[in-house]
Amino acid sequence: MSHQLSLWRAAQLVGVARGVLQQQVRDGKLALNEGLVSTAELLALYPQARLEEHGLLERVARIRDEAFGRRVRERLLPSQEVLAQRLFQQSQDLADLQRHLQRYHSLVVAIQQRVRELRGPSGDGGPLDELDHLVTQGLARVLATESADVLEVMDGMLKVMSAQVTVRPSGHEFTVEGHDTLLQAGLRAGLMLNYGCGNGSCGMCKVRVIAGEVVRTQPFDYPLSEAEKRQGYTLACAHTAASSELTLELLEAGGPEDIPLQQIVCHVRAVGELAPDTRLLHLQTPRTHRLRFLAGQSVTLGLATAGGDVHSLRPVASCPCDDRNLHFFIARDDTDAFASRLFAGQLKPGDTVTVWGPSGRFVLSEGPRPLVFAACDTGFAPIKSLIEHALALDAAPSMSLFWLATRSDGHFMANQCRAWSEALDSFEVALSTHAIAAVGAHQIARAMRADLFDIECDFYLAGPPDFVEALADDLRAAGVPSAQIFAEAL
Ligand code: FES
Repeated sequence: MSHQLSLWRAAQLVGVARGVLQQQVRDGKLALNEGLVSTAELLALYPQARLEEHGLLERVARIRDEAFGRRVRERLLPSQEVLAQRLFQQSQDLADLQRHLQRYHSLVVAIQQRVRELRGPSGDGGPLDELDHLVTQGLARVLATESADVLEVMDGMLKVMSAQVTVRPSGHEFTVEGHDTLLQAGLRAGLMLNYGCGNGSCGMCKVRVIAGEVVRTQPFDYPLSEAEKRQGYTLACAHTAASSELTLELLEAGGPEDIPLQQIVCHVRAVGELAPDTRLLHLQTPRTHRLRFLAGQSVTLGLATAGGDVHSLRPVASCPCDDRNLHFFIARDDTDAFASRLFAGQLKPGDTVTVWGPSGRFVLSEGPRPLVFAACDTGFAPIKSLIEHALALDAAPSMSLFWLATRSDGHFMANQCRAWSEALDSFEVALSTHAIAAVGAHQIARAMRADLFDIECDFYLAGPPDFVEALADDLRAAGVPSAQIFAEAL
């Protein structure tokens, strides 16, 4: 008999983005029954997921790729304590199921015996004979050995290794893997969760457990009241999922307006050379005060110097899921006091930089459409953050990235782009070069026209004003609705 899975779990098992399965549903290739998909239909669409003679763990690893296999071994497995709790719960469910099955079996056998007593040794040639035949045939069918539903088996295994969390009232879902807390797992999945300190002292990450169990993974100071505990409230930053399925009620930000302005004194962790004229500035927040921001947003960096404070508005290039480590791409610019000091070697590991923010509305809008990203030079910073967020959300059916460089060393993270393209079937990358940003933008628009304008896509553009304006104009002229164009002029 076919087993039912959520789309989230189904995507995990067959190794595709959730957005790809959602597209299959929209195209009528995959049927949903009350939000669930049957393993039989899934196997028909993705026959490569069928179990062969290989071990199950090997098979799970093979379904995705080597990187996924490594992830299973290295970070998917939770602590021994959590693993033991999940195994215990699964064993309990299994024991309940066996007990019920045994009772049903005994009941059916008792009915069969009673029917035989009533019809007598030679039968009645009528309804009782027919009933006896029906029960005998039915029992034979039930007891016949059927091959296991491979996806059901794998689902059972994944339930022990990772927990699935459903969020109320949004209906969002995420998976808790390895040693992640509920907060870390939610952020990693791209959810805009409410939180503050990240270390159990502010209470802002309070969530209510509606179904399932959690276990504490780190000490916390915030005092939950007795009434809150009775109602199931707990701290997401100090707990993880003890049961394989969990339903939480929690607050999520609806957009940039829900993210509070913060001021954090960070330390320079490293300054790296991405290219001769581009530096990576890596700032680290204190453990107890991390930056809550949305992918694509910017912050103001403040540097105290002998000649007065220097301020610079910069897009964050890293993912909000790592809220302690903030990355910025800084291009050489003699007219920019902050960049000049960085390139002059006046910013060293251990120095302090004050961060104010976040600011800006260049964030991912939720929707089922394919995503198209276009960056020029260090406009790649907010685009990279958005791409990482989109990958975490796993909801876009496909992504395309166009990156224009106006300098010969402008594609300073080309390897990262190639890695995305190689690892993901639905990720296309096109790198181009032109010294004039607006001309390069028109070339990109022509390249997009070839295969993207006919599809309903969301377009995210970031770079110098000339680039963004020229490309946005071309997109609108080609009929793309303004509501599907999101632009950030830097
Ligand atoms: S984020 Fe402050 S207590 Fe969890």
